[in-house]
Amino acid sequence: MNTNIDALTAALEGKSEIESLTILADLFPGQVVFSTSLGYEDQVITDFILKNNLDISIFTLDTGRMFNETYMTLQKTNNRYDTKIKAYYPQTDSVEALLSTKGPLSFYDSVENRKECCFIRKVEPLNRALKGAKIWVTGIRAEQSGNRQSMHKLEADEAHDLIKFHPILDWSFEEVKTYVKSNGIPYNPLHDKGFVSIGCAPCTRAIQEGEDFRAGRWWWEDESKKECGLHAK
Ligand code: ADX
Ligand code: SF4
Repeated sequence: MNTNIDALTAALEGKSEIESLTILADLFPGQVVFSTSLGYEDQVITDFILKNNLDISIFTLDTGRMFNETYMTLQKTNNRYDTKIKAYYPQTDSVEALLSTKGPLSFYDSVENRKECCFIRKVEPLNRALKGAKIWVTGIRAEQSGNRQSMHKLEADEAHDLIKFHPILDWSFEEVKTYVKSNGIPYNPLHDKGFVSIGCAPCTRAIQEGEDFRAGRWWWEDESKKECGLHAK
């Protein structure tokens, strides 16, 4: 990694989220990308980027197993900003082989099977999406999990040979929600039904009051195994 994280951290010191994104886009023209899952957090960042015409390309990983509400949110977002968010899709051969050998619900049978599905549907497409990028912007917030609490806004991702930037790492869920609602930004209607962190339909459920943010993701697995590989270090 030849880009110095300390120098970048200093460049972003005291800057707002939008100023920081602008600085990064200027420093790395055409090499800053943002991944959106169309969840609340990501909608905030999409708004920052598209409202300010920042040179940051936005992509989503369409796993083929998303909720219909997520596709509706993608369409509404495209309409609102008069854009077409780029979508990456899994390799047909891999999905066909998986379904033909293990069936459509293999991920419930073991952590290995679940990781295999996540690899085919998310990780491999992500690797293609990040090709050539120097900065990867995400909507991660510290509050989302114990692991995320120790993250920094800028961090090296050696596996992808780039730097990740989490502009709203310190935001609370309330702040995110208020930003989305007060700016009239389209959002996934599942958020109004108890869904906080939204991934693939068969692997996401609503949470009860008092439950962890990520309790609704891969809920049948041990807490320690809940890693899909997108943000593996
Ligand atoms: S995950 O690792 O559990 O899947 P999570 O849903 O918390 O991730 O989202 C964290 C960040 O990962 C999002 O803000 C977004 O940047 C990225 N992300 C997650 N899912 C997707 C997706 N399907 N497409 C693009 N980016 C995604
Ligand atoms: Fe497959 Fe579930 Fe992972 Fe989606 S979250 S890629 S359906 S295992």
